[in-house]
Amino acid sequence: MTDYQNIIDAIYAGCRESRDRGVVASYIPELAKVSSSKFGIHLVDLNKNNFCAGHSKDAFSIQSISKVLSLALAFSLVDNALLKRVDVEPSGDPFNHLSLLEFENGIPRNPLINAGALVVADILVSELDDPKKDFLHFVRDLANDRTIDFDEKVAKSEKRTGFKNYAAANLLKSYGNLTNDVETVLDFYFHQCSIAMDCVQLTKAFFPFMNGGKCQRNRTYLTLSQVKRINAIMLTCGFYDEAGEFAFEIGLPGKSGVGGGIVAVLPRKYCVAVWSPGLNAKGNSKLGMEALEKLTTATHQSIF
Ligand code: DON
Repeated sequence: MTDYQNIIDAIYAGCRESRDRGVVASYIPELAKVSSSKFGIHLVDLNKNNFCAGHSKDAFSIQSISKVLSLALAFSLVDNALLKRVDVEPSGDPFNHLSLLEFENGIPRNPLINAGALVVADILVSELDDPKKDFLHFVRDLANDRTIDFDEKVAKSEKRTGFKNYAAANLLKSYGNLTNDVETVLDFYFHQCSIAMDCVQLTKAFFPFMNGGKCQRNRTYLTLSQVKRINAIMLTCGFYDEAGEFAFEIGLPGKSGVGGGIVAVLPRKYCVAVWSPGLNAKGNSKLGMEALEKLTTATHQSIF
């Protein structure tokens, strides 16, 4: 059996010493307050054995990691109808770029870039009775943890500086690919991104993506086909213009957030979450990526 704890301890020891930790995101002012010295990692295997190191129980802003959870909920509600409004091709562009959106007449390349996530948010605003409350309930339910919550300060902070997302939402609206009004969709989106979770909670919430759609309590959230499709989208689009590099170095479906978190899954084996707030030039956690590369290399396990 793979000695995950030993491998994770070695990864933590290496990352703790690292001087080059990347740069903490500051375009959402509230995120700039987080110390780049933080590092946490948590892995849960298929049999629910847990392995962790560092600040694995410190909550952080999950940001774009939430896009996978909103996609999962939207998929479970409207299934393939979603694909009429958002494509599933990698963009090769940074997460907030808008040029392709205009070229492609308001159909975002994929659900994990900001424009695609806004379309998914629009679907949830239309489908849910009380969108923010119901989405939070879904995330709490997945992770079986009532303490998970929005961070209102982060949501407000992003609203104040979210000019690019306002531009994306307005562009989508101008192409008829946003049903609800811009303010309502952005309010939902800023809140979903503001959710604070720690590495342990994230591995619980992402357990269904490695376990054929079933959570740790064996409740089914997604069909096998939906899990296959969402994992494929994570692999090809989860790291934006660094998705190729992530597949090349790490070889797992995963998703990053500008809060410095990354979640990745090895189907039927494990789910892992890592957090280090300093980002690389592409906006993904610098040490987080290095840690996951060490994990898949040391374990000789990846989807390839
Ligand atoms: O929309 C934004 O810019 C942020 N709420 C989320 C961006 C993000 O996390 C990109 N991922 N690495």
